[in-house]
Amino acid sequence: MPPARRRAAAARFPEIALPAVGLAADLPAAAVVAVPTRTADSGVVLAGSLPAAASAVDVEALLERESAKGGAGELVAVPVEARVLLLGVGDAAPGDLRKAGAALARRAKDDVDLALDLRGLPLDGPALHALVEGLLLASYSFSRKAEPKVRALQTITLVGPVGLQRELDAALTVVRAVCATRDLVNTPSGEKSPAWLAAAAGDLLKGLDVTVLDEKQLAAKGFGGILGVGQGSSRPPRLVQASYDGGGRTHVVLVGKGITFDTGGLSLKPNPGMLDMKMDMGGAAAVLGTLRAVADLGLEVKVTVLAAVAENMPSGTAQRPGDVLVQYGGRSVEVLNTDAEGRLVLADAIAYADRDLKADVIVDVATLTGAMPVALGKRHAGLFSSDDALAGQLEAAAEVSGEALWRMPLVEDYRVALDSPVADLRNIGQPKLKLQGGSITAALFLREFTGGRPWAHLDIAGPAMAAGDSDEVTKGGTGYGVRLLTAWLAELARTSARTTTRTRTRRSA
Ligand code: BES
Ligand code: MN
Ligand code: ZN
Repeated sequence: MPPARRRAAAARFPEIALPAVGLAADLPAAAVVAVPTRTADSGVVLAGSLPAAASAVDVEALLERESAKGGAGELVAVPVEARVLLLGVGDAAPGDLRKAGAALARRAKDDVDLALDLRGLPLDGPALHALVEGLLLASYSFSRKAEPKVRALQTITLVGPVGLQRELDAALTVVRAVCATRDLVNTPSGEKSPAWLAAAAGDLLKGLDVTVLDEKQLAAKGFGGILGVGQGSSRPPRLVQASYDGGGRTHVVLVGKGITFDTGGLSLKPNPGMLDMKMDMGGAAAVLGTLRAVADLGLEVKVTVLAAVAENMPSGTAQRPGDVLVQYGGRSVEVLNTDAEGRLVLADAIAYADRDLKADVIVDVATLTGAMPVALGKRHAGLFSSDDALAGQLEAAAEVSGEALWRMPLVEDYRVALDSPVADLRNIGQPKLKLQGGSITAALFLREFTGGRPWAHLDIAGPAMAAGDSDEVTKGGTGYGVRLLTAWLAELARTSARTTTRTRTRRSA
């Protein structure tokens, strides 16, 4: 069997094991030890005490000599034979600890055992969660080398917070889901056909309800958008549907763009624009990873995931600019640019979420427009929403998870740019109107298929893939969206549980 097929059959997530993280009451022997430093009004302070091997060191003088400030991620080596590091944690807020964890894991990557002495820090669940994300997500790697570089770092011991085992387990669950998502995004498109991605979704979501529609079933049911985009490729499209019911009353449907490679189709991209396009399924990977995390955490929510999967290729069977396709549900679209393919596959899935699944909330995640990172850069996703309450919830989840987003407007005056003389819609804004705002017209196109249901769209074209390592992000697929959506759903589970209790109390009173 060729290696790619073998790998697909035996997919393990993440492909390269992460260091093991454990809690302990005391420092383990023979480990690199890190002790936090914090920023304070009086300057930098040591939060805790140095291990015995370094007890003779004058810390204050050392910090002064190094011009240390204690900012998040600052590292100062203590000049003793045993390896001892001072790790700046700023204010010890979750965001600071995520950064600090990432910096420490990178610094200690060639050591085998690492211990972080947290006994001098007040550390709650969210703080530990963020710290663990930083430590492990920065340790992630992906390789297709014959002999992948092995990471030395095997164990990380967090000394002190022994009462937070449940929070540690929850953080590890989220981290594993993020790394699985990164693996999917990082897999080269030669391996990653639509059928491969559908099978990988089944592997990742083992134990959950997963169904896959193939091209014949898609045709029979009228998924014209997914079929139109996929028809140029020798590797036919798929629609993956997966669900988890933890008992919530709100049925949340998460929709992901799953273009396994985006050449642009006959509206072919130039080579530089095509280079990273194996990541054009980052939205689908994120919603699949989120479902894994949500199910493993056992959240009290009801979630269905739809991954609209196709390869956008030019060929003799490809759709042509000017073709008209019929989306799921019956609306026709004039395809004027085959490179605006994401909205076509998403529209089918969103219409299905509305008409068949009767979703209470729809959130789609997509590497949709090159204009989005032009506006917001590489760390923020664009958030578009028809519902202020939903938008507010997602903004709050961004804050908690450290996955940033910024709300964008659905400009009503731009809607006319999508009118077509021959079809119900056109797939790109009419250039003659010179409206610009390509990310906005793309979102307005999607809104047409939501049936007026509460809906949010996350354009993750910027943060889905990173050009290099920074903080908890590693070069390549970032897994953006998993932490954000999991935090949102965890909060949704908490608040709807609270509402239920309140209603019950009121009724019995
Ligand atoms: N997958 C791209 C968007 C993209 C570009 C994501 C760069 C990440 C980095 C999408 O399918 C696309 O090609 N969009 C076009 C739309 C245009 C033809 C209206 C774009 O943004 O140029
Ligand atoms: Mn495209
Ligand atoms: Zn695309």
